[in-house]
Amino acid sequence: MDELTGRVRAAITTALFLLLSIYAPGASAQTFAKGADVSWITQMEASGYRWYNDNGTQQDVLQILKDHGMNSIRLRVWVNPSGGWSGLNDVVAKAIRAKNAGFRIMIDFHYSDSWADPGKQTKPAAWRTHTFEQLMADVYQHTFNTMNTLASNGIFPEWVQVGNETNNGMLWEDGRASVNMRNYAWLVNSGYDAVKAVSPNSKVIVHVSNAYDNALFRWNFDGLRSNGARWDIIGMSLYPEPGNWQTLLSQAITNINDMRSRYGKGVMIVETGMSFDQATASKAFLTDLITRSRSAGALGVLYWEPQAYNWQGYSKGAWNTNGRPTIALDAFIDGSPPQPPGNIVILQENLTGFCGVDGTVDSNHAGYTGAGFANSNNASNAGVRWRVNATAAANFTLQWRFANGTTGNRPGSLRVNGAALSTVTLPATGAWTTWTNSGSVTAALRAGANDIALAATTSGGLANIDSMTVTGNGISAIACN
Ligand code: GCU
Ligand code: CA
Ligand code: CA
Repeated sequence: MDELTGRVRAAITTALFLLLSIYAPGASAQTFAKGADVSWITQMEASGYRWYNDNGTQQDVLQILKDHGMNSIRLRVWVNPSGGWSGLNDVVAKAIRAKNAGFRIMIDFHYSDSWADPGKQTKPAAWRTHTFEQLMADVYQHTFNTMNTLASNGIFPEWVQVGNETNNGMLWEDGRASVNMRNYAWLVNSGYDAVKAVSPNSKVIVHVSNAYDNALFRWNFDGLRSNGARWDIIGMSLYPEPGNWQTLLSQAITNINDMRSRYGKGVMIVETGMSFDQATASKAFLTDLITRSRSAGALGVLYWEPQAYNWQGYSKGAWNTNGRPTIALDAFIDGSPPQPPGNIVILQENLTGFCGVDGTVDSNHAGYTGAGFANSNNASNAGVRWRVNATAAANFTLQWRFANGTTGNRPGSLRVNGAALSTVTLPATGAWTTWTNSGSVTAALRAGANDIALAATTSGGLANIDSMTVTGNGISAIACN
């Protein structure tokens, strides 16, 4: 379709839509958006994937998400992807499916043939030799054509992202923000204008990662503002670890407040996730994220590819390897009971509750969470100590995250309040950078302060210990003595 026909057609569809929306109930605009980016579903289905609900019955994955409280679906668009997944036809097919299932829709333009993120904003091959003026026209055309095809299928996305995680701009080198902020701003405006030309009611999002990094957001959006960029909503990604989510979430809430007052724009968490095998921590994080971002005035929270399991090495889905959702997905259910306070404690070295190691706290092997890990002396009885408070005597579950780059077991004797309870095996993980969870141990803790220690049973010392998790009601980390 040439651009003029496209515009005329878009104008007619838009007029029709405006007419219809006068009579349509406008409830969605006020409702907090809860949803997921599910861009992988068609490719997963084509390679034989199926999804099961909590009871193990096979269902359409969108239905399962809906039954877990989700009301919004986000879809990425690549310009000319090899294989076609997340190209125009695939996106339109998924958008129709999401719309028919009653979801609100977000479209996410990566101006690239493949992933665009803070580490790469590669131009589509077809645009590689274009001048900056041509690139602005390319962004406009591609955005317009995609929006127009969606419109001709009756889809007017509620939100459209112009660029994906454009921390440092897009379409490098021309649009690299640190080199040419004005180019970045003008590219954003090209996308913005194309979106509004087809669908004036769609909200345009500019999306930056690391929601906790206020300096990054100020730098990016100050730059856009001073170069005349237009946008409606600030989108954020937030991917914390079990050991640091409390800190990063608090910083993200501070940033949400700052963004709202500094620019007078809406804010939305457009991507989040945590490792599927840390589902208890993930649920606690998501529950808090939804509650606290909502009361800070954010517009929604979307999980990135929750339905991914055993898929392309991606481990931050919210699905078990048996094809059913993890409990983390329950965080999206309205009125889902929050985790009882203090339910989970992840004791990171040098945080409250970590009481030292006969050895050192190191940070020289990648992959740990938090500030580092405890490296015990290579000696029998060398150990790591923690201290927790239980509101009442009860059984709790203890688990450790560790790495063992040797070929043998580096076990520890678990000692609770001085008594040896059991031996925890900490077998070889293949490398000092490969971290994994130990088996879990049930331990009876007493009301009040409890000392917990792992002490090496062999002269090799313990494996390196990243963190300890204590699960149960009424547990908290306390200062050492
Ligand atoms: C290596 C490794 C340490 C580890 C130690 C050990 O030195 O870098 O992190 O603790 O081996 O064998 O215990
Ligand atoms: Ca050691
Ligand atoms: Ca750690």
